[in-house]
Amino acid sequence: MESNTAVSCRNVVKVYDTGGQKVTALNDIDLEIRMGELMMLVGPSGCGKTTLISVIAGILDQDEGSCEVFGKNLLTLRNHEKLDFRAKNIGFVFQAYNLLPSLTAAENVSVPLIINGMKRVEAERKASQLLEQVGLGERTASLPSQLSGGQQQRVAIARALVHDPRLIVCDEPTSALDHETGHTVMELLKDVALHKDRVLVIVTHDARIFNFADRIAAMDDGHILKVVNSAAQL
Ligand SMILES: Nc1ncnc2c1ncn2[C@@H]1O[C@H](COP(=O)(O)OP(=O)(O)OP(=O)(O)O)[C@@H](O)[C@H]1O
Ligand SMILES: [Mg+2]
Repeated sequence: MESNTAVSCRNVVKVYDTGGQKVTALNDIDLEIRMGELMMLVGPSGCGKTTLISVIAGILDQDEGSCEVFGKNLLTLRNHEKLDFRAKNIGFVFQAYNLLPSLTAAENVSVPLIINGMKRVEAERKASQLLEQVGLGERTASLPSQLSGGQQQRVAIARALVHDPRLIVCDEPTSALDHETGHTVMELLKDVALHKDRVLVIVTHDARIFNFADRIAAMDDGHILKVVNSAAQL
């Protein structure tokens, strides 16, 4: 693996087997993502985008092939080592946000810090700062059910960034946001990616944010079709 490679997927295959029906979600994926880069992943619904980023983030095990993140093959780690690696190094924004319903916005955002051993009061202070940055400074005490979809999405984004992870993976981070808020969130994500030892992978259908990408990988039917430098080449 080259020293500036952050993520390296080789011949990755993932087949879901539900009740005897097999779906090949990833079919021989090769992908290199560099340090300091904001890589977008685009493609039609069902082509395997969420599956691919779940494998990259160690949330899902592939059936074949290898995936290294910062030189570590997550499949070879023991369970607690993998959890520890993820807690320290990876931030994930789920397509469905996955906020904890009984926790306030600030408590939700502070979870990754508390997992990493930070004191609760300090964690919530840091969480509130980040909520401020995504425009939710006034809503830190709200429960997810009291927030709009776009506000919940921003809480999920704050939670993915709060522990300063080296790899940030976002599944449709601007899908519920208006143009201006989406732009603000992308500016924040791009700022984070400007660190040369960080990397961002963003799944999106949102053409309005394509120009934030350093490179764009186009997927279809479990394959990477091409990796291009700008949306004009798609
Ligand atoms: N848990 C699962 N069990 C069975 N099949 C699954 C499962 N998750 C995903 N699939 C299937 O795998 C394929 C890829 O799904 P995936 O969620 O990765 O697509 P996607 O590109 O993220 O789509 P979307 O843009 O709609 O979110 C689809 O055919 C989907 O139906
Ligand atoms: Mg998806």
